[in-house]
Amino acid sequence: MKHVNIIVKVTNACNLRCKYCYNQDTEYTQDVLSLERLEKFLTLLTMRFDSIEVIWHGGEPLLAGRDYMTRAMEIEEHLRLTTGVKIKNKLQTNGTLIDKWWVAFFKKYDFKPGISFDGLENEKHRQGTDKVLRAISLMQEGGVHFGTLAVVADKEYDLLENYKYFASKKVPTDFSPIFSEGGAKSMSALDAEKYAADMIALFDYWLYDKEGVGVRLFSSYISMILGKACRICSNASCIGAFFSIYPNGEIYNCGRASMTAYPFGNIDNVESVEDLMSSRGFHDLLVGAIARRDKCKASCDLFPYCCGNCSDEAMIEGSLDKAPAFSCYAFKTIFTHIRTKVNKIIEDKVPLTDLNPAMRSIMIDCFSIKGDAQEEKK
Ligand SMILES: C[S@@+](CC[C@H](N)C(=O)[O-])C[C@H]1O[C@@H](n2cnc3c(N)ncnc32)[C@H](O)[C@@H]1O
Ligand code: SF4
Ligand code: SF4
Ligand code: SF4
Repeated sequence: MKHVNIIVKVTNACNLRCKYCYNQDTEYTQDVLSLERLEKFLTLLTMRFDSIEVIWHGGEPLLAGRDYMTRAMEIEEHLRLTTGVKIKNKLQTNGTLIDKWWVAFFKKYDFKPGISFDGLENEKHRQGTDKVLRAISLMQEGGVHFGTLAVVADKEYDLLENYKYFASKKVPTDFSPIFSEGGAKSMSALDAEKYAADMIALFDYWLYDKEGVGVRLFSSYISMILGKACRICSNASCIGAFFSIYPNGEIYNCGRASMTAYPFGNIDNVESVEDLMSSRGFHDLLVGAIARRDKCKASCDLFPYCCGNCSDEAMIEGSLDKAPAFSCYAFKTIFTHIRTKVNKIIEDKVPLTDLNPAMRSIMIDCFSIKGDAQEEKK
């Protein structure tokens, strides 16, 4: 099964101006990806892949509007019926524009939205906390599966208190460290040691939080430790597995700002995914990332899990062929800690009922998958 993830930056426009936003250099222009370009892009992908995950992004994707998104769903449905390719949808939104109409839309088309929300610190670098909280209630009432994504923007961000806040609202979350692009370039850097130490302390609390909620980074690392494939792009080889289209039709690896140094082509001028993969941009990005991964592979026993980390973050730190220091340190420290703890739980036969519900379901899921793998071997 050939799977691809696509990030559709459907518009650069946004109704917020978050201080750290990596999109700041786009100046939030109002242009929207035309439906013709969207249809051509999806059509080319169905010619190469059996399964497509569309991640609606921006700017603020809901600003593309109801008619646009309804028409986009018709295009997807037509492609499903005519090609047999599976197409699923996710969406990353600031949450401030979600109303009952959008909740019904997400439900109808089985979207798994992510709401960007910094929890207790939301007004510090973002805005619209009241609207986001209302959106969360509407999504919960409407039975939409969603998660939140908080940015750890500075040393003052209290991970434990914020986790407790998300848990009190029964909302799964993730804590993503700020990276220095766009508005974040002028902000003081986050300390890798502090971020990793706080994540470890949070993990130790989270693990036994019987009423707790999921934290995506923890779930992903635990799944890898228990033998499943990685679910985070930074720890999987993203080149060729991700494509991002911008409102003007330009295609890149993903929507991060420094990736624009490696253009794959414009949808108006390409006729296949192979055309994108034959571009100079694709070639140079791949060669640089392979050089970095080769160094990692030769020197790091965590390479099979980490995979050399994120190319965008390597670029931000100056060189595509060098491991990004912040993410490298954070991965080594947090992953090693979690691995020790998970192995100990298994060794000690800790009852599942003593653990965080998210941990319980990962363990059940992973052990049943291993059962399937055994069957396949026979
Ligand atoms: C650029 S936004 C686009 C989608 C939508 N407007 C939203 O806010 O969810 C995607 C995500 O990137 C995060 N983000 C933006 N700038 C960042 C930075 N410099 N470091 C880390 N995350 C950042 C946002 O908080 C958001 O979760
Ligand atoms: S992070 Fe999202 S909501 Fe905030 S300014 Fe950037 S695009 Fe807009
Ligand atoms: S460059 Fe980084 S953020 Fe972009 S898809 Fe690859 S790993 Fe993810
Ligand atoms: S932990 Fe660091 S050295 Fe190891 S593979 Fe990841 S980026 Fe490379």
